[in-house]
Amino acid sequence: MHPASVSTTLLRNVPLFAGLDEAQLGVLVHMVMRTTFGRNETIIRAGDPTDSLYIVIAGRLKVLMRDAQRREVILAILGPGEFFGEMGLLDDSPRSASVVTLEPCSLLSITKTDFKRCLAENSDLSLMVMRGLVKRLREADQKIGSLALMDVYGRVARLLLQMAEDVDGEKMIVKKLSKQDIAKMIGASREMVSRVMKDLQLGGYVEVRGRSIVLHDDILLAE
Ligand code: CMP
Repeated sequence: MHPASVSTTLLRNVPLFAGLDEAQLGVLVHMVMRTTFGRNETIIRAGDPTDSLYIVIAGRLKVLMRDAQRREVILAILGPGEFFGEMGLLDDSPRSASVVTLEPCSLLSITKTDFKRCLAENSDLSLMVMRGLVKRLREADQKIGSLALMDVYGRVARLLLQMAEDVDGEKMIVKKLSKQDIAKMIGASREMVSRVMKDLQLGGYVEVRGRSIVLHDDILLAE
């Protein structure tokens, strides 16, 4: 896909750039490119050298690691407003993980040199990057805690709660979430996740409604 230029209006709505004034956005607008990608495209490959930072405008992506047998663990799912590729930019190490689109995505990118220059000139931008890293560390701590301390029922319940959105007063997962993806996120087999999901449905903790998963209040007890 060919990259396209962007407007200051678009940049103003990006959480990472929330602290920048009009003049700073005016400089940034010449450094940022917008590109669209199809489903299942690799944006970043683990081990590659780092060149750019990416910001999600639309669509979802998975952050993953693979072993030599190409088995996957999904570290996170990213959506609109979130950024990725900052780790290698900050410490000049190769990419720590791969990032692959789950659906068609629109991304902004900024080169390493330009981003480092912006960081040096904008303390607000540095603070937003730090906040993003802290959020990620908190989520990683939760994941380590649930891997060490919870059984698969608890891990599935916690993941469902984390991914749910409020829709008309109900907690729901409306975005497609396969049992295989759940398994890759919580370190369990797909068969085990299928069994747990079936038990959670039988117990009245969750309800599958069309392509959505509805969580009932009792799911807090299963966690
Ligand atoms: P980088 O190491 O440059 O390339 C891979 C990117 O994946 C990394 O920067 C982060 O932006 C992102 N990433 C790595 N680990 C996680 C995680 N646990 N949660 C969310 N994003 C991550």
